[in-house]
Formats: sequence, structure tokens, C-alpha cells
Amino acid sequence: MISIKKPHQIDAMRAAGKLTAETLDYLAGFVRPGVTTGELDRLAFRFVTERGAKPSFLHYMGYPASICASIDDVVVHGIPSDAQVLEEGQILSIDFGAQLNGWHGDMARTFAVGSVDREKQRLMRVTEESFWAGAARIRDGVNLREVSRTIQEYAEARGFSVIRDLTGHGIGRQMHEDPAVPNYDSGTGVALKAGMTIAIEPMIAAGGYEVAFDGWPVRTRDGACSAHYENTVLVTRDGYEILTATEERHA
Ligand code: MF3
Ligand code: CO
Repeated sequence: MISIKKPHQIDAMRAAGKLTAETLDYLAGFVRPGVTTGELDRLAFRFVTERGAKPSFLHYMGYPASICASIDDVVVHGIPSDAQVLEEGQILSIDFGAQLNGWHGDMARTFAVGSVDREKQRLMRVTEESFWAGAARIRDGVNLREVSRTIQEYAEARGFSVIRDLTGHGIGRQMHEDPAVPNYDSGTGVALKAGMTIAIEPMIAAGGYEVAFDGWPVRTRDGACSAHYENTVLVTRDGYEILTATEERHA
């Protein structure tokens, strides 16, 4: 069942999304060589709990941390650690969600650690752009499949592949709600309606799209780099609104 959020519920999701975005902004200022992903995790925990919210991921299905910190070939769900020191030239995806007054925000960004090579820069840029290309399709009545297909076409036309085994998702009182939001054309889709809230999260790989799991971290099977970009988005009559934003952002 896909829930349509009422105006007061959307206000609550705006607040959760804003806090999620403020947390990620705050973390961005600490990403540099020599910092551990364990430190970033503690900073995130402290930042949200001091503001009356909870980290959505902590203890979700047994997940042990507040952020996911995924370096280079790790696609998602990298577990932060005090033993994991960031190194110049890596790309780090930070995925973070906050639960405020019972409502969730969920977002991810990929950061360069120091300076990174041109191909990693291009991967990060295309991943973000694929999100915006897909988002541009959103409005009441459009089929979600259009959004998925647009993301896929955007990434593949630039020589990258779309991770298929993981998708975005509806979001609200639960971090994961219906519908699934694939980043490729899976052959099916639902009609978007104003008031739906979905997390769109392209995971784009420089090599093939196949992944391997060894516990939580999901890696590319061929060891190529992967980037991740995610926002929680409200479907509106004429377009969308980014809920995981520090300032209002519509289209
Ligand atoms: N942002 C991730 C998602 O969209 C969060 C899952 S990490 C977990 O699904 F640890 F919480 F499972
Ligand atoms: Co998500």
C-alpha cells in the first residue's frame, strides 16, 4: 500500500528531512584524509540526538551504526569503524537518515577525500546528475517507471551502469515503505500521486552492475568504484519538492 501524506504529515517530513540534510552538511565539513569513519558516525549520532531526533539506521535490522560509510567499491551499507582511516583519493558515500517526531528523512551524498582522479569525479557528477534527470520527470500522474528509465538512460549513456539489486523506496513513518523505486527500467511501475513521499537513490558503478554481499557492506563484484546520491522527495501536482534540503527546493 502506498500512503498519501496529509499536509500536516508533510510538514513533519519536511522537518525530519531538513534535520537529515543539516546533519549531512555538518558531516561534509569533516571529510578529509586521516579522519576515521567511526568519528563521522559519532558526530552524526551526537548531532541528531542533541536535536531531539534519532538516527534511523541504528539497530534497523541489526545495523550497528548511525551512518553508512561506503568507500570506493563499496556500493552501500559500509559499517563505520575507528579502524577505517580515510585516504587521499578515495570516494566516500555517506548515507544517513533521521527520525524526528516519528517521521523519517533519508539521504546520501558521495564525497571526494582530498583530491580524486578525473574518472571518480565524473562518476560522482553523473550519479548526482542522474538523480536530477529522474527527478525532473516527477509530477502527479506520471508513472514511476519514467523516472527509473530516465536515471538508467542518463547513467548508461555516459558509460556507467546502474546497480539493480538495491532500489529506492517509499518513506514516511517507516524508513522503507512501498513502492520500490528502481534506478533502471524493471518493466513495471506505479502512477505517482501528489502527496507520495519517496527516497530516490541512484547507485551508479564505473564497471558492471553486479554486486557481492559479505555481511552488511555491498561491493561491486568487479571491484570498480560506485557512487550514491539520494534525497527524500515529495511528489506534488506539478513536480516535486526535495524534503532532505536545508532550504526549500521545488520544481
Ligand atoms: N539509506 C538506506 C536505504 O535507503 C538505509 C539502509 S541502511 C540500514 O535503504 F542500515 F539502515 F539498513
Ligand atoms: Co534510502
